[in-house]
Amino acid sequence: MTRYKRQDPEITRRKFINVAMGTTAAVGGVSLLSTLGAANPVFRLTADKMPPLEGDILVHAEESKEGRPITVADLSTQLVRAWAMGKDEDGNDVIRKGDPNNILALYRFPQGQLVAPTNLEATVDGQIVAYSDICTHAGCSVSDSDINAGQMRCPCHSGEYDPKRGAIVTGGPPPKPLAQLPIRQDGDRLVVAGFFLTPPYPYHNSEAEWNNVKQEVEEALT
Ligand code: FES
Repeated sequence: MTRYKRQDPEITRRKFINVAMGTTAAVGGVSLLSTLGAANPVFRLTADKMPPLEGDILVHAEESKEGRPITVADLSTQLVRAWAMGKDEDGNDVIRKGDPNNILALYRFPQGQLVAPTNLEATVDGQIVAYSDICTHAGCSVSDSDINAGQMRCPCHSGEYDPKRGAIVTGGPPPKPLAQLPIRQDGDRLVVAGFFLTPPYPYHNSEAEWNNVKQEVEEALT
């Protein structure tokens, strides 16, 4: 697993705001933004707030089994939520859930069902795929659709995504697909193979901001 080496580099103010606002960021955010803007505190990018990193193990996010490594057998065509788990500066396991935007959605589809624009090289055997589970419209957590079979649906404003086609937007207001996270298999475990392939929420509209986050993380790891 990736080990966090340097202590407490600064986190960007924008990222902290999204952490503070959680996965239901959009509604009622003005007063919180105003408060944060006035306070202008110093924010820190700690190991638990880092985005999923290469070498992290994927673990269950569901409360009853949180932290348990996810195996291939745990996955199906139904969404399984996951966190990435790495190491802190002392070598202890750390689940990267300090930033709620780090929540992930995992699927396992029968061979041949995952198609472009899914990056199949970033999946396990073209069958297991991982995405950010945070809607690119306003940051809600996305679920399986109970209306359109095989689709993902955002409960906040009915955004829809197709998890078999790179989580492209198939309905509603989301401006961008869910970001795909590259993964690989290591024995029984599923392991993160690198950063998200495209900027995840809340950086989905700014490649530059996402690049800054990645640079910040890489500096913290050297
Ligand atoms: S937050 Fe609006 S559709 Fe998801």
